[in-house]
Amino acid sequence: MEKLKIIGGNKLSGSISCSGAKNAALPMLAATILTDKLVTFKNLPYLQDITTMFEILGSMGADITLNESMDFSISTKNLKIFEARYELVKTMRASILVLGSLVARHGFARIALPGGCAIGTRPVDFHLDALSKLGANIELKGGYIEASCKKLKGCEINFPGISVTGTENIMMASVLAEGVTVLRNVAKEPEVVDLANFLNSIGAKVTGAGTDEIVIEGVKDLQESNFTIPADRIEAGTYLIAAAITYGNVTIKNIDSSRMNNITDHLKLSGAAISIKENEISLDMEKSSLAPVDISTAPFPGFPTDMQAQYTVLNSLSPGSSVVSENVFENRFMHVQELNRMGCDIDVRGSNAFIKGVNKLTGAPVMATDLRASASLILAGLCAEGETIVDRIYHIDRGYERIEEKLSYLGANITRVPN
Ligand code: UD1
Repeated sequence: MEKLKIIGGNKLSGSISCSGAKNAALPMLAATILTDKLVTFKNLPYLQDITTMFEILGSMGADITLNESMDFSISTKNLKIFEARYELVKTMRASILVLGSLVARHGFARIALPGGCAIGTRPVDFHLDALSKLGANIELKGGYIEASCKKLKGCEINFPGISVTGTENIMMASVLAEGVTVLRNVAKEPEVVDLANFLNSIGAKVTGAGTDEIVIEGVKDLQESNFTIPADRIEAGTYLIAAAITYGNVTIKNIDSSRMNNITDHLKLSGAAISIKENEISLDMEKSSLAPVDISTAPFPGFPTDMQAQYTVLNSLSPGSSVVSENVFENRFMHVQELNRMGCDIDVRGSNAFIKGVNKLTGAPVMATDLRASASLILAGLCAEGETIVDRIYHIDRGYERIEEKLSYLGANITRVPN
């Protein structure tokens, strides 16, 4: 298995382009099941999670082609198997996203109960309860969810808690339902808005995405679409932190800066000079010092849980104390043990990490435990004295496109090495 080798100490500078957002692309790929017309995506990121979703769609009978402009076209016209197998689902929790579309278009879905990142129990009860309110019959058999119905019927659904993929799954299911569906207490993440935009591009009637209430008017037929995947705000945020902790000066291009405020506002408090243009964000840390900032994760527009591990590294390198509170997932501090082995001083009690800033980190062999945890270990490696070897990097390949190339381009000493 490959590893990443990092020699810390280089300041990052220059500019890089942001890749397409994994969390926007995954539900859109699942949504292709809703239409028998051809859908083409530009700017799909080259990531393991995208490959897994392709494998799931392919195993059901979807045709996926890559054209000369590197755009992917997907036709689910000949879908014959309405099942997502355990071998595929176990590697990616977001596989559950095919549930809503399958039931909506084919009246049946058999999906293995998901695995994915080991960050808390992460149940799917919101998805299943809402789908059954739309009229699906749900059974759990041998580790699989089986959902069936003749025709889903629009209704009012109040989610008991905020779930991103839950909102997306039920939004997709409602597109072909009879009548109007009203979803309340929904996730307002930019990727939910992206999915609504994509669904409308294929002829759905979705309004209100980005607010607390989404209304979906069911339609009978859907059409073709050519859609560009928006850029990944979490990838952009991770590189901005890399620039800050190395006291560098970096510009991230091709990013919708309006969706980054919850990250850039914290970076400003941490001492970074941030300049924002419509599609570009620059961070300059050359003339300032890092300051610790308390972080409290929350659903959008709050601070994203997907940036918590990375910010924990920034706070660890800031003189003074800070508290990072994880309010979205249980058990999302698995990176802390490894960071402490590199010299961080972090004490986790319940859902809070109490951080004391340290003067230096020391390179070490470390083990990635989930996607964003791996990003935090790489960030720590960029600042650590000597060599850091990050093992189990399949986690990072799930969500960061060519991370070692992008970081090297900015001046980091990072290489992918065989075992
Ligand atoms: C999505 C993102 C993930 C991000 C997370 C929170 C994708 C593919 N993944 O994950 O990167 O970290 O949002 O922003 O978009 N919950 C339940 N029952 C459910 C569903 C969720 O109790 O049926 C709980 C979860 O355990 C968690 C919280 O709700 O505590 C939020 O989870 P959710 O928003 O569903 O996360 P995902 O959609 O899986």
